[in-house]
Amino acid sequence: EGTKQGTMMNGIDFPLVIDSFYLVAAVLLFLGLKRLSSPATARNGNAIAALGILLAVVVTLLDRSIEREGFYVIVAGIVVGAGVGAVLARSIQMTAMPQLVAVFNGFGGAGSAVVASAEYLRLADGGGGIPIDVSVTIMLGTLVGLVTFSGSIVAFTKLQELIDGKPITFPLQKTISAVIFAGIAALIVYLIAVDDPAATAYYGLVFLCLLLGVLMVIPIGGADMPVVISLLNSYSGIAAAMAGFALGNTMLIIAGSLVGAAGLILTQIMTKAMNRSLVNVLFGAFGAQASSAAAGGEQDKAVREATPDDAAVAMAYSGTVVLVPGYGLAVARAQHQLKELSELLEERGVDVRYAIHPVAGRMPGHMNVLLAEADVPYDKLFDLDDINDRFPNTDFVLVVGANDVVNPAARDEQGSPIYGMPILEVDKSGQVLVLKRSMNPGFAGLDNELFYKDNTMMLFGDAQESLTRLIGAVKDV
Ligand code: TAP
Repeated sequence: EGTKQGTMMNGIDFPLVIDSFYLVAAVLLFLGLKRLSSPATARNGNAIAALGILLAVVVTLLDRSIEREGFYVIVAGIVVGAGVGAVLARSIQMTAMPQLVAVFNGFGGAGSAVVASAEYLRLADGGGGIPIDVSVTIMLGTLVGLVTFSGSIVAFTKLQELIDGKPITFPLQKTISAVIFAGIAALIVYLIAVDDPAATAYYGLVFLCLLLGVLMVIPIGGADMPVVISLLNSYSGIAAAMAGFALGNTMLIIAGSLVGAAGLILTQIMTKAMNRSLVNVLFGAFGAQASSAAAGGEQDKAVREATPDDAAVAMAYSGTVVLVPGYGLAVARAQHQLKELSELLEERGVDVRYAIHPVAGRMPGHMNVLLAEADVPYDKLFDLDDINDRFPNTDFVLVVGANDVVNPAARDEQGSPIYGMPILEVDKSGQVLVLKRSMNPGFAGLDNELFYKDNTMMLFGDAQESLTRLIGAVKDV
């Protein structure tokens, strides 16, 4: 409101200056995003994008004519918010990263919804009607922002295991959601079309949007939660862009659109890597029956257990070794030991590579981040498409806490819930050693035929301890 369109101050075209700064901030965001696409430049990209946001915030604060008391509140908000964010980001465990992102998305959505609501209440109070373009974006900002908020909170509570991670389904669930959605649509039409609508209608809209977010996420199983979080991330961007339209703020529109598009692309990459459609993730209640498939597991089949000494000899005398990290590596926080082992083998002349499955772990890029933390050189990491052809010529594969991403059922068993998901075809290599603690299934809750194969050995125990034992044994070879 305070923007003085076309105002000249001391001969300076003020809005033009503001827009120029916004342009610089937008370019910083683009550059930052681009640099996120490689682990080598990601950290720097993050810093560049953060600088862009800082510039945008400072310029916006200077642009709007904010009274002094307002400034105090805003600065206090920034200090408290940045403080909480910094402490959380520093202290969070890698395994808890998805729920942290869920909370961030939720607050992003809530922030946009609060902005949209404040704008609505301000304009409604002023009387004289709200221009239709503004009211439409306010309503969409409210809807998407609140669905993101309540949906993200449910995703958080599932991942944090505050509630059961399994899909929660009940009769007529989809019908009830559809009725609520119809109610929301009707209220939005009423609020836009009617002059001076009842204030309770807006509060009713808020309530129904929150309810819809909860109902959308509870039927989705924990294994699919990262996909949902990425989708909610996209929603939070759309909500921000809507708030940007409602306020007439170009920067918010640009930043929101970037988040909206990036989140959608990431969602698509993940569903493709799991060979699922988005519709199936959202409405398939995947995982509801999965544990029964595991419970019916093959008790009569035996696995071969390896000793660290045998495994070390086999590895040390191999020409090529591929390391396959999975979620268990994150749980055991064993990335440093894995790197140490790979260096020991390389010193002996072994060709060592890391195979990275796109959905290994619990979030996109999970393995890349872990291995980067241990300073594993990026040129040693190979994507699924680049490494799969090599397995038949690989002497030894060490699977560290991975399970679903190496499950041959995804390739061979048509009835399997994960059938069609691309896997790392480690079973085609000369010998496989699997490090895990038990015969328990991975996230999809499925038995894994790989563990019973003739060329597979198991070393049970926490991955960090097992790797430490292997390191000691390789040193003694
Ligand atoms: P999982 O299939 O979940 O298997 C992880 C294995 O690690 C488990 O079998 C577990 O066995 C073992 N483990 C856990 N803690 C351990 C520890 N401290 N030491 C040693 N082993 C340990 O993992 P994955 O192969 O990485 O597959 C990822 C799964 O998540 C897939 O189903 C994927 O679709 C799903 N998912 C991932 C994403 C993204 S973006 N990454 C998104 C959505 C879904 P024990 O309990 O016996 O130790």
